[in-house]
Parts: sequence; C-alpha cells; structure tokens
Amino acid sequence: MKVVILNNAAEVAAYGAQIFVKHINAKPTAVLGLATGSTPVALYKELIAAYQQGQVSFKHVSTFNLDEYLGLSGSHPQSYRHFMNGQLFDHVDINKANTAVPAGDAANPLEACAAYEAAIVAKGGVDIQLLGIGRNGHIGFNEPSSSLRSRTRVKTLTRATIDDNARFFGPDEFQPHLSLTMGIGTILESKKIVLLATGESKADAIKATVEGPLSASCPASALQWHEQTVLIVDEAAASKL
Ligand code: GLP
Repeated sequence: MKVVILNNAAEVAAYGAQIFVKHINAKPTAVLGLATGSTPVALYKELIAAYQQGQVSFKHVSTFNLDEYLGLSGSHPQSYRHFMNGQLFDHVDINKANTAVPAGDAANPLEACAAYEAAIVAKGGVDIQLLGIGRNGHIGFNEPSSSLRSRTRVKTLTRATIDDNARFFGPDEFQPHLSLTMGIGTILESKKIVLLATGESKADAIKATVEGPLSASCPASALQWHEQTVLIVDEAAASKL
C-alpha cells in the first residue's frame, strides 16, 4: 500500500485525477470503478476539465459504480445514478450505455447483485477503482463487520453512516437504510485501487486502514492485501498516522 500525503483537498483531487487520466490514455477502453460521496466530487471536476481541454476522452471507457441505495430508482435525486450523471457523465463524452450503477429499484435485488458481478467479469474486470472512505472505515457500503471476501450484495447501513449521509436528504425525504454494494472481495479484484480521503473526520479511519490490523472492524484495512493500492490523503486525514 502506497500512501501519498498532500497539503490539501484540492491537491488530492488533482493528483488522483491525473492517475485516471494517465490510465485512460494508456488504455482508452479502461474499465473504471467509480465512487460517490462528497470526496470524489473535486476529482470528477478535474476529469471534466481535463476532457474539456482535450487531455482525455471517455468515449471507449466503461464504468461500474460501487453502490446504490436500495429502493431508489436512477431518476431519484438522491440516487447514486443521478449523482454520477450530474457530477461526471453528463459533462464528458462517455457512452452512458457503458456506465453501470447497481439497480436500486430492481424487482429482485439479489438477482441484480449477481448480474452486476457477472457484468463486471464480462467486461474483463475493473482496471482502476476509485474509493472514498466512511468515518467508520467503510468502503462502498461495506460497513464494519462485512466479510472481507464479500461479493456484491444487499447491505444494511449502520446508524453512523445513515447519520453521516442524512445531509443529502431533505427533512421529510425517505432515506434508505439498505444498499446494494460491491463486496470487499469484489473491490479487491480490481487491478489498481485509488482511495481518497480528506479532512480530519477521516483521520481515525485512515490510521486504522494503514496502521491497524487487517480486520473486518475497519473494512478499508482489507486494502493492505492489495499490492496496487494508493491512498491519497491530505494533511488533516493523515494527522493520526
Ligand atoms: C458513502 C459512500 C461511500 C463513501 C462515503 C464517504 O457512504 N457509499 O462510497 O466513501 O459515503 O463519503 P464522503 O466522501 O462524503 O465522506
């Protein structure tokens, strides 16, 4: 695991975006694993700017997002599909047919999870996976105690994660407590992993990820197993290392 410590969130986004730009330019048909949450937003802005400046094209890229709320269709404003369209896909030359987010409104969520795994395999696997991290060390929606070999499945959110994400929902808006998420085993199969973390609220999670025991108590610690993982963090997120 490589840890890159930078001065601030803007540098983290720019550094992370450059990794993706280089990767796509080396392999225009790259399969990207993408993440939601507030942390990747600045990286997506950098990717849009790079596209606008002619530095990268997403024309032949495919993407798989980590997770989605169970019970929300892709048109719901709080769905992760809606987030991805607004934050990235609508602003670059990607073919939306090649972008996948787990189906939050699937009639049979378990079948949808199995189909998602099969779709990743059919594309040859994820080349480079972007991750954020929850304050409790979750990646995707793999909450503490998730099996380190888990596959895409339905996962109950912890109270901490529901509270952390409540800021995105209106006071009277339905906030799902269940999700569909790639498993930790799924994530570990991507060829390269780039995790971004910024701000002091992530310092404990980053310490547990880098220096803690490899344990389901901190799902991100499973990344210690992965040889091609880079953590890009700002001074604040690195402050407890
Ligand atoms: C959600 C997402 C995660 C993300 C986490 C942290 O729970 N499912 O993929 O890493 O939020 O988000 P933020 O970057 O907003 O702190």
